[in-house]
Amino acid sequence: MVENYMVCNCKQVSYSDIANTLDSMFKFDDVLTAFEDVQRVTHCSTGCGGCHQKVLEIISDIMGGAKA
Ligand code: FES
Repeated sequence: MVENYMVCNCKQVSYSDIANTLDSMFKFDDVLTAFEDVQRVTHCSTGCGGCHQKVLEIISDIMGGAKA
């Protein structure tokens, strides 16, 4: 269980928003494709862009087996 926290302040997207979005469409083996889909659904990383790396790392962790 990972504690929920805000990942993208511009768009108010939390860790669990990202995890749940990934969960609902977990059919990728490619982090960048997953990122684009998570971005399309949650709008994370469409403001200042400062969270881009953080979002990528979270997606990569979750896809690597970390549990939400
Ligand atoms: S913090 Fe995510 S776009 Fe600014």
